[in-house]
Amino acid sequence: MDKLTEMLKESSNTIIFTGAGMSTESGLPDFRSKDRGLWEKFNPSELANVHALVHNTEEFTEFYQFRLSEINKYEAHKGHHILADWEKSGRIKGIITQNVDAFHSDAGNENVMELHGSFRVFYCHTCKKEYARDVYLKGTSTCDCGGTIRPGIVLFGENLPEDTFRRAEIEAKNADLFIVLGSSLSVSPANMFPLIAKEHGSKLVIVNREPTEYDRFADVVIQDKSIKEVLIEIDQQL
Ligand code: APR
Repeated sequence: MDKLTEMLKESSNTIIFTGAGMSTESGLPDFRSKDRGLWEKFNPSELANVHALVHNTEEFTEFYQFRLSEINKYEAHKGHHILADWEKSGRIKGIITQNVDAFHSDAGNENVMELHGSFRVFYCHTCKKEYARDVYLKGTSTCDCGGTIRPGIVLFGENLPEDTFRRAEIEAKNADLFIVLGSSLSVSPANMFPLIAKEHGSKLVIVNREPTEYDRFADVVIQDKSIKEVLIEIDQQL
């Protein structure tokens, strides 16, 4: 922990990279934690893709209305707010996130790159007409044009938003400290950013309850404390 605190103090360009583990302490399940992950209950290959949206619309909609109702129940926790304070004070440059809960921007971070989109936007898959989140939550899933309304998140098999991806690539290349918070780093192309940073001379820190494939490239790995504990403890030392 002291080493991470020192690295943060010495860094002039820190980028944070978050996964679902950042939001479990808000109450949201992550995807792959042993016996607690979302994909233990639902099968992503059956649901989180465009094929299911088109050919299994009812179950697809049920699943995403469930996920939206879950996200609506919870909110950003102290750790998200610490990251927002750190951006305001210049301690970190920005956040690259795989999360779609928008908790980082809710907490006040501005330079947030949402690689997988977010549940902030809903639109018709056919005509692209936008719909309010509440409309979807209340059960409307068919557009006036007859198309299916879907969340503005990246489904498996879809491309990541080009401009967001480019911004994240530039930030990762310029970082001198790249901190991963709560990701199994098992989904590409998002999982390439820690290595891009490392290859461009950045220090790499991974804070994750379970081991990842990238731990061997990391300068510091923290597994014995939760993300919220780590952020609170470091914030007190800065
Ligand atoms: N503190 C530290 N680590 C935690 C905590 C916590 N409080 N809670 C969970 N973790 C760790 C888990 O051990 C797990 O390894 O966070 C990691 C979360 O990994 P995943 O569940 O795989 O989530 P993520 O890496 O974000 O998944 C990437 O997969 O399904 C797709 O699009 C979805 O964005 C998601 C992507």
